[in-house]
Amino acid sequence: MVDPDWVQEYAAERGTSLRDLTTVHVGGVARWLVRPRDADSTARLLRDLAAAATSWRILGGGSNLLVADGEVGPVVVHMSGLQTVAMLGDELIFGAGVALQRAVNHATDEGLAGAEVLTGIPGQIGGALAMNAGGRYGAMADVVSWVEVALPSGDLARLSNGDLHFAYRTTCLPEGAAVTRVAWRLKPSADRAALKRRAGSILKEKNAAQPTQAWNFGCMFKNPVGQSAGKLIEAAGLKGRQEGMARISPRHGNFIENLGEARALDILKLMELCEAEVARGAGIRLEREVRVWPGLTFP
Ligand code: EPU
Repeated sequence: MVDPDWVQEYAAERGTSLRDLTTVHVGGVARWLVRPRDADSTARLLRDLAAAATSWRILGGGSNLLVADGEVGPVVVHMSGLQTVAMLGDELIFGAGVALQRAVNHATDEGLAGAEVLTGIPGQIGGALAMNAGGRYGAMADVVSWVEVALPSGDLARLSNGDLHFAYRTTCLPEGAAVTRVAWRLKPSADRAALKRRAGSILKEKNAAQPTQAWNFGCMFKNPVGQSAGKLIEAAGLKGRQEGMARISPRHGNFIENLGEARALDILKLMELCEAEVARGAGIRLEREVRVWPGLTFP
């Protein structure tokens, strides 16, 4: 079979493993993987894929992602090549592929306050934007000024904070869009050392409560209103429950740990077990934070 035109133009790789492009280190291969270098080439790529009626999935830091063990296709667009960092007036502007923690460090090094609340959150800034990543002290929504997205039409568009309709762990992005740049507006602070101390104490708190050394997704479920998903999973007696090489963390119920060679189906079974047992015991429907590629179901 002849390769589609865009394969050569964008140096698409065939059969690249996605396992180590996710933080849980699980998953099969991408039929095609493309790594655009910048915003313009991302927009052109999406336009060419749309024109060829080929669908795509956007991959950032892979921290909230469970990839099936087979082949994922047809095209995975990996945003890690967009690595620019710029300061323009009072805004810090990052390429989508910049690691969120690099962006946080950059802000605190510049003496800019507000982003230190995102300390310890994995992933890249584009994905963090798409999920409105956050924690107890704040979320991306609190610091984002505007976002640039590549659209399937081949255009780049700028969306303001208000356009994004941020809510708890969600953002409204146009269908098929890829985030290409994220701008933060932060507050100048006279006390850099205080920002660093605050970041350090947030990290310490996380390391004490979460299995940060294990391969994991971060939290797998959103917290239901007024509840803690981890606490509900603990109350269902599921902490430490193991399926193959996947385990519900004995430390924090809302985390799954890959103990080595976990399969996607092992993890999915544990997630479904949590959903079923929390629904049965507490009458609460857990909502997933983790996205599954493609819709995995049991054979
Ligand atoms: N708890 C238990 N058992 C558990 C886990 C937690 O009883 O197994 C209790 C804790 O003792 C605490 C309460 O539940 O009283 C809340 O737990 P925790 O403070 O660990 O925070 P969380 O609500 O589980 C949230 C975010 C995390 C974020 C932390 C800290 C969600 C779903 N989770 O966790 O975000 O790191 O606060 O800021 O919003 C993520 O979204 O991926 C994530 C890890």
